[in-house]
Amino acid sequence: MKKYLVIGNPIQHSLSPLIQNYWIKKNNINAIYEKEKLEKEDLKNLVLKVKEGKIHGANVTVPFKKDIIFHLEELTQEAENTQSVNTIYLNNNKVTGHNTDIDGFRLAIQDIKFDVYNKHVLIVGAGGVAPSIICALIKMKVNKISLINRTKEKAENLKKLFKDLNIINWNEIQDFDMIINATSVGLNISDELNLDFSKIENNKFFYDVIYNPKETNFLKNAKTLGNKTENGKKMFIHQAAQAFKIWHGIQPEINEEIERLLDQ
Ligand code: ATR
Repeated sequence: MKKYLVIGNPIQHSLSPLIQNYWIKKNNINAIYEKEKLEKEDLKNLVLKVKEGKIHGANVTVPFKKDIIFHLEELTQEAENTQSVNTIYLNNNKVTGHNTDIDGFRLAIQDIKFDVYNKHVLIVGAGGVAPSIICALIKMKVNKISLINRTKEKAENLKKLFKDLNIINWNEIQDFDMIINATSVGLNISDELNLDFSKIENNKFFYDVIYNPKETNFLKNAKTLGNKTENGKKMFIHQAAQAFKIWHGIQPEINEEIERLLDQ
């Protein structure tokens, strides 16, 4: 039986095993997908296990998406561009890191038929997921990407990877077409982003990478102000599907049953 897993810290709330085992079963694959809480010093051993064929693939989540790179033998272009890896596999006997968050985001936006072409997008947050979203938005040919982060220095660091990024000060929010919450604010239901959107015209698109809880205060408030909203569930599903395809060579079906499975 082949073994796959998601590693991170914390990891108990990860829904990756639920979705991956659902597709494994649906496709009659002899495999199991588990979750494991690791420390930074365990990453080397994880990569070794993939090299030795003891583990056949892994997802990497917060806070190791960057740290893992140091131990890998090869990176795909997507992983290289974002300096972020969420999927590991053995390719030509080399432990390779890839980033499926980029296409996860792109396909989610495509699914909901929001046309970002030539639009101005504002990202809030400069943590682990921000480079993947920036990369996807560039691929989707947006006109301008602005980024705001509580710690401005971290936002400035992202400019080393993406030179056209427009960094703005906290609470100096300019007009935009779409705004993305890429912070961890909202993971607790009572969390509030300390930003004021009341002066922005309505009919904008507010997107939250968080999908559990289903509706963060960021989305709730945006809806009250008359904006379109969407949570990160579709992005999560698509990034998982891309990883499944890499490991098993099968494009898994995305259906309503999966959407319901994740609503818990
Ligand atoms: P990491 O920063 O380790 O990659 P992350 O969960 O990927 O972790 O990212 C956390 C993001 O949420 C960061 O952009 C963080 O802002 P800082 O860089 O200023 O820490 C943001 N964040 C977390 N708590 C926040 C809060 N209370 N208000 C605003 N932003 C917050």
